[in-house]
Amino acid sequence: MSDLSTLAADLTAAVDAAPDLAALEAVRVSALGKQGSISALLKSLGSMSPDERRERGPQINGLRDTVQARIAVRREVLEAAALDAQLASERLDLTLPPPPRRRGSLHPTLRTLDEMVAIFAEMGFAVAEGPDIEDDWHNFTALNFPPKHPAREMHDTFFFHPDGDGERKVLRTHTSPVQVRTMMSQAPPIRIIAPGRTYRCDSDQTHTPMFHQMEGLVIDRAIHMGHLKWTLDTFVSRFFETAGVTTRFRPHHFPFTEPSAEMDVQCDRSGGQIRIGTGSDWLEVVGCGMVHPKVLVNCGLDPAEWQGFAFGFGIDRLAMLKYGMPDLRDMFASDVRWLKHYGFSPFAALPPLG
Ligand code: DAH
Repeated sequence: MSDLSTLAADLTAAVDAAPDLAALEAVRVSALGKQGSISALLKSLGSMSPDERRERGPQINGLRDTVQARIAVRREVLEAAALDAQLASERLDLTLPPPPRRRGSLHPTLRTLDEMVAIFAEMGFAVAEGPDIEDDWHNFTALNFPPKHPAREMHDTFFFHPDGDGERKVLRTHTSPVQVRTMMSQAPPIRIIAPGRTYRCDSDQTHTPMFHQMEGLVIDRAIHMGHLKWTLDTFVSRFFETAGVTTRFRPHHFPFTEPSAEMDVQCDRSGGQIRIGTGSDWLEVVGCGMVHPKVLVNCGLDPAEWQGFAFGFGIDRLAMLKYGMPDLRDMFASDVRWLKHYGFSPFAALPPLG
């Protein structure tokens, strides 16, 4: 009897002292496993006399039940402690400040581009694209710039080094080469706009070496200057969302249009601000004209059958006018204070189409 009480006392102490589930399992195996001390006692019952067994049987079984129950209690305690430890190690302190808010915003040029595309899309124009690195033929020759003609220099072109064939690629000086690419790849009637980056070696308050243009091209039958003027006037009044915009058309020269014109928007640039609808300054925003017959021929179209008009907007300049930025160079200076002030939320709705 006393051997059983000693064993019971030892085992309960060991169970209660088990520091974790693995240690508890070791105690259980030492008592109740195949080679365990209680299992050995249970096995010894078989070799006892019936009287002895009647007396020892309940005691040994009782010991087994006690130890099993004690292990179950201890297991619950240890499992709860293990869970607490896991929760503590994976704890997330929700009182910490959140990570910094995303500060990104839409650049005014991109915003302006989106607005322009929306207006022209509503007028039935599709968007076309071309490469920033152009060959001389698309950027100049097809557009009726004569070879070696100073007009090529007029654009302050960035030329690449000549390649193996002696050909000098250029950073496109305007989006007009997309006209050529479109006429050569699409059958008329054509109605496209082509927004994109353009490059010229030039920098002052209204010029930057990289800027954005949006080309427009309409090719159809019996197209005339009246269609061009209506399109630009309608665009400008929708874009500025105000009746108080004064524009003027000036005769001009472009090799790829005949006749050619430039349209300016009246503005006031005094006092470090730019305001439209007032003042004595004019900002040129678009060059335009009727597509030159030679350009049509260069692109495989018969000028007796097809005519068209074209225009090229400065997107950044329109952004300056609409959103009041006085200096074009600031647009690409990447000054975060400027971007924060003039940037747009990407989720801001576009103005309604008038
Ligand atoms: N490509 C001209 C420029 O960069 C702008 C322009 C003028 C485009 C007249 C046109 C146009 O399509 O018809 O200054």
